[in-house]
Amino acid sequence: MRIVLLGAPGSGKGTQAVKLKIELGLAHISTGDLLRAAVKAGTPLGLKAKAVMDAGQLVSNDLVLSMLEERLMQRDVANGFILDGYPRNLAQCEALEELLDRIRQPLDIAVKLNVPNEVIVARCEIRYKAEGRADDKPQTVRERLRVYTEQTAPVADHFAELGHLVVVDGVGELDEVFKRILGALRSSRAAVA
Ligand code: AP5
Repeated sequence: MRIVLLGAPGSGKGTQAVKLKIELGLAHISTGDLLRAAVKAGTPLGLKAKAVMDAGQLVSNDLVLSMLEERLMQRDVANGFILDGYPRNLAQCEALEELLDRIRQPLDIAVKLNVPNEVIVARCEIRYKAEGRADDKPQTVRERLRVYTEQTAPVADHFAELGHLVVVDGVGELDEVFKRILGALRSSRAAVA
């Protein structure tokens, strides 16, 4: 199965993707994690991305696409994947469709986690205090939410138009949200079958 996980920053995509990876035996591809690894390793891509990420803005489409393309060529992807953090604007949507067509791995479904902004700000503040992730500062989280509304929200509309979108309530205990996602995936498979 090939899944795109959508939702605002802090909506729980990464947390739920880890659980889905274990449950369904899929590769978890997070563009945020790939970028943070590049920043940590001090690669040329990481050096370019750091300031943009710290400001809560999007890294350029070209840089992220080349990184994603490389990741999608790895072996574990053959059994299916969960894409977390990509696509983040309509140009990335188009690039993804073209790339997945080329490697004959078309998407099955997009799952969007719905979480109100005030819950997101509170979650990121807790993480900022615990882990000090630079873009979890409250003012940067607000900027990430603004960028999300402006650039990423239309991506969900695009998948909805294609009939590929399911929306899940992302508020509640981790396991409760996880059950809702599994339920949504099962119903969508039943709908396809
Ligand atoms: P990325 O790492 O993708 O971050 P994000 O999507 O903005 O946000 P998070 O990772 O914070 O949110 P999440 O939805 O994964 O939630 P999580 O599970 O972590 O991107 C970071 C940056 O990289 C971007 O701003 C951009 O600069 C760049 N970037 C990445 N992809 C890009 C792309 N495609 N194009 C251009 N630039 C790109 O949960 C958040 C917190 O809440 C955690 O502490 C978690 O423990 C907690 N939590 C989760 N679920 C619950 C729950 N149910 N109840 C209580 N707490 C919960």
